[in-house]
Amino acid sequence: MKPLIIANWKMNPDSPGRASALAAKIERAARAHQKKVEIVIAPPFPFLPAVGGAIRIARLGAQDLFWEDKGAYTGEVSGHQLKHLRVAYAIIGHSERRMYFGETDEAVNKKIRSALAEGITPIVCVGERERDGNNIPEIVGKQVEAAFSRVAASVAPGVVVAYEPVWAISTTPGARPDTPESALGARVFIKKILSGLYGRRTADAARIIYGGSVNAENIQGFLREGMMQGALVGGASLRPAEFSSIVEQAGS
Ligand code: PGA
Repeated sequence: MKPLIIANWKMNPDSPGRASALAAKIERAARAHQKKVEIVIAPPFPFLPAVGGAIRIARLGAQDLFWEDKGAYTGEVSGHQLKHLRVAYAIIGHSERRMYFGETDEAVNKKIRSALAEGITPIVCVGERERDGNNIPEIVGKQVEAAFSRVAASVAPGVVVAYEPVWAISTTPGARPDTPESALGARVFIKKILSGLYGRRTADAARIIYGGSVNAENIQGFLREGMMQGALVGGASLRPAEFSSIVEQAGS
């Protein structure tokens, strides 16, 4: 399976012109490494059309979606609407949404099921907030189990799980990336939970990727030693030269 590298731009850049210029640079890297790496760009909602127009090989991702198709939900955007913009992936349950917008495990689950129903691949973010403590498996385990609640075994392999320890995300004060060894531990643990829910074969088909201060220096470690099947990249995805290097290394 090709590694999946996702550019999570968060609430950046500040104009559609800058968004399409940045996307065009990432598209070059996607084109050069298309046989070996799958690239997704997740811009803010209003820039989806501009970015969609600037890419052909890279795929379009949304940073969230709402589970109802349409109706009186001021400010929300549905998976059904995103589908018209050729959105193929959606980040769901990012720690910033959980922390700043009160997103619950239950809401995350509804969003995942709605994305799957629309044929959008959900990238489900899980991860503990504190670096230390014995409750990491409990927190992550609960998030994974809640995320997959009522998700049928036939569609479960279509879900991507992004393990993002919150303390390693670059905007968290004092952030430091995790080590490949403990990321591997998290990967093994998440696979175990998925195996318990669906059996080994289905668990092995679902992709697990890493996020949290991924950069051109540490990507190799997470992919090789951490055995992660890709990365969700925030800050470094806004620096095209660095992001291209991440893509190149993922394909090597
Ligand atoms: P970061 O963000 O790469 O800037 O740490 C990752 C994320 O929040 O998805």
